[in-house]
Order: sequence, then C-alpha cells, then structure tokens
Amino acid sequence: MKIPARTRSSLNRHLFDDAQVPDALRHLLVDISRAAKYISYAIQTTEAGLAGAVNQFGEEQQKLDVLSDDIVREFLCENHLVSTYVSEEQKEVIELEANAPYSVVFDPLDGSSLIEANFAIGSIFGVYEGNTVLGRKPKEQVGALYVLYGPRTVLVYTTGKGVHMFILNDVGEFILLEENMGVADDAKNYSPGNLRALDENPGYRKAMDRWLTEHMTLRYSGCMVADIHHILSKGQGVFTNVGGSKYPEGKLRLPFECGPFAFLMEQAGGTATDGTQPIMEKTIQSVDQRTPLIIGSKNEVERIVAMMQ
Ligand code: AHG
Ligand code: MN
Ligand code: MN
Repeated sequence: MKIPARTRSSLNRHLFDDAQVPDALRHLLVDISRAAKYISYAIQTTEAGLAGAVNQFGEEQQKLDVLSDDIVREFLCENHLVSTYVSEEQKEVIELEANAPYSVVFDPLDGSSLIEANFAIGSIFGVYEGNTVLGRKPKEQVGALYVLYGPRTVLVYTTGKGVHMFILNDVGEFILLEENMGVADDAKNYSPGNLRALDENPGYRKAMDRWLTEHMTLRYSGCMVADIHHILSKGQGVFTNVGGSKYPEGKLRLPFECGPFAFLMEQAGGTATDGTQPIMEKTIQSVDQRTPLIIGSKNEVERIVAMMQ
C-alpha cells in the first residue's frame, strides 16, 4: 500500500520518521505532549490564585503548579514507561515502576508567578534511560522538550538530532512549524536573570555594563522557557542566572530547568555553562540542586564567562 504524501508532520510522525527514536521513547514523548495539552487547557480555564501550599523550596505554590504536576503524573503513570521522576513540586524522587525503562525530570509550570500578569509560561521536561537521575549528567538525556504557553502554544524537542518546533493546532495536534532551529555564535539580545547578584558579583556587573554600553537589546520576561525560547526562535541571544548572596548558585535547578535547556541549546549550536564547566557535564546530586547558568550564543557565553573569572 502506498503511504500518502505528507501534507503536515505531527509530533508523532516526526519522532517516527525523522528522529527515528525507539517506540517506547516515542510513546513517552507523545504522552508528555498530551499532558501539556491539558496544562495548556488548564491555564486558559482555571481561575488564577494561590493554592495556599508551599513547594519544597518554601515558595508559594499556585493552583496551576499543583494541577500541572498532577496532570503530568497521571500521564507518566498511564504508560508504564517511567521508573522514577523528579518534579519541581515534589521533595523527593518519585518511584513509579521499578523495571520501566525511563526516568523523567520536569518543571510542570515554569514562570508561574507570571500567571496573573498573563505573561507566557511553560513546562520543561528531560528524559533519561534507567531508573534514576541521581548521579547522572544532563548529557545522558535521551530527550528534552519544553512547551511554551504564549499567544500560541508551541512545543520544542530534541532527541539528539536537532531541535524542532511544533504548534498546537485547533484540533489539538502538535504540527511541525520549524525544523533544525539554530543559534548563531554572536548575540544581539541579552536576558539577564537574578540581577540582585550585581552588587556581590562584580563580574556580572561588568557583563551588564557591557550589554548596556554596546546597546544590545534587552529581552527578559521572568520565565526562562519564554526567555530561552526567544533565543532559539530569533537564532541568537544569551540568558543568564548567576549567583549572588540570595541565591549563591543562582536560582535555577540543574535537573529539570538547566539540564533540559542545555541539551536543547547544544543541539541548536549554542552552549550552556555554569561559568566553570558545561551544564551537560554536571552530576545531578539532589533533586533541588541549583546551578549558575549562562546559556545561548557561543561567543557571547564565552565573553561573559571570561568577565566573571
Ligand atoms: P518557577 O516559576 O518554576 O519557580 O521558575 C521561575 C524561574 C525562571 O523561569 C526564571 O528565569 C526565574 O525564575 C526568574 O527569576 P527572577 O524573578 O529572579 O528574574
Ligand atoms: Mn521553574
Ligand atoms: Mn515551576
């Protein structure tokens, strides 16, 4: 039988024909994308507000954080492919099925303090083979993706064969929008997180002064998914979140925030470092491990690292 010519490429088809990932990984990634559709729907329909609980870092959880975490959990349980997972909203590693092939890390809702402002927010996922992510390095990920809930909902994934973007269409399918997203070596845009650190981190102030002097373009929303997506979609830029007294290691977590983005950025031709070593080489020691992050266009990342030394 003749297979009909492609009119559009769904995420499933792309994973099957282009990325040619093992079936189990394809199922898992598609299930994660299904969870994201429910999160997207929840964002549009749930009344924003505080749930009254705090997460493991003592931060206030919003209803949608909790809800999104539950949604992802449900999908990860359903497919019997997940041995353990680490979520921003859970204090410990969660065990599902001892002999299942994959472990997943995720931030179910990133940028959740922006919900009331109706800014773009996102979800971040990383996938490892095996039954733990502790003791592992982000370079061992077999898949990473994020979903950005903005004016459009888009999903961007890598399985180590480039970075590809899909748009959620009206019938609830993720359809290919852009293949092989690339990031140039030089940056025109900058996205400086944790600016509280400027006073205690003279190298960071030097970097900031230079961005201002060189009239680079500021693009910072307060949601790393949106801010790093900006770099990937414009094909250049740099995003930072480095240490100061409030957050000595910066604000962002290695397992489910920096790790997945490091994989995506390297696949797009950019780079990600903590200032001394590549994020991809850092060992995950705990679920709440933070790390400084300088990510984006290679030359700009190098310049900032040099200034911070
Ligand atoms: P989360 O909503 O999951 O807690 O993460 C928000 C993060 C990240 O998306 C963003 O880059 C950073 O917090 C913003 O920090 P500042 O408020 O210090 O800019
Ligand atoms: Mn986050
Ligand atoms: Mn979050």
